[in-house]
Amino acid sequence: MKKTEIKTVIYEYNSIDELGTEEAFLIEKAGEAAKKAYAPYSQFQVGAAILLANGEIIQGNNQENAAYPSGLCAERVAIFYANSKYPDIAITAIAICAYKNSKFIEEPIPPCGSCRQVLLEAQLRFNTPIKIIIAGKSKIYLLNNVKELLPLNFDRNVLTLEKT
Ligand code: THU
Repeated sequence: MKKTEIKTVIYEYNSIDELGTEEAFLIEKAGEAAKKAYAPYSQFQVGAAILLANGEIIQGNNQENAAYPSGLCAERVAIFYANSKYPDIAITAIAICAYKNSKFIEEPIPPCGSCRQVLLEAQLRFNTPIKIIIAGKSKIYLLNNVKELLPLNFDRNVLTLEKT
């Protein structure tokens, strides 16, 4: 038996003022996007703002549907839009904010498993680390790589392990 422990490094801040201007601006853009989310069923509005290597910022928010599984999370809306508009430009950072019943949630809301997998694909696709900023009203988490969120992951490498 071998025991392996995996370490995740999370930087925690208590105010947006402790962050750099670029990160603070990205959080502002994520909040702006959250307010435009279409979330009539959960009243849980999530916004994401993506910074691209060319300096452009792409926003996205969750889009719900009466047929619940047909909706999509904010992070994936933003990533897919960024990658569809700029297929050759790396994503370098993403900020995420969430509102419940129109109130900015105090705690940071980490992305769901499917969004983590899509974030990882975006990171591997361009071979560029993606900084993840998860902003609550009174606490902000910053992670420097998607691997921090998804350490034991599935990726393209396993597809070529076994040759038939
Ligand atoms: N949601 C996101 O937008 N991102 C996540 O990472 C988790 C959940 C959305 C999906 C749904 O519209 C609402 O939050 C409640 O689950």
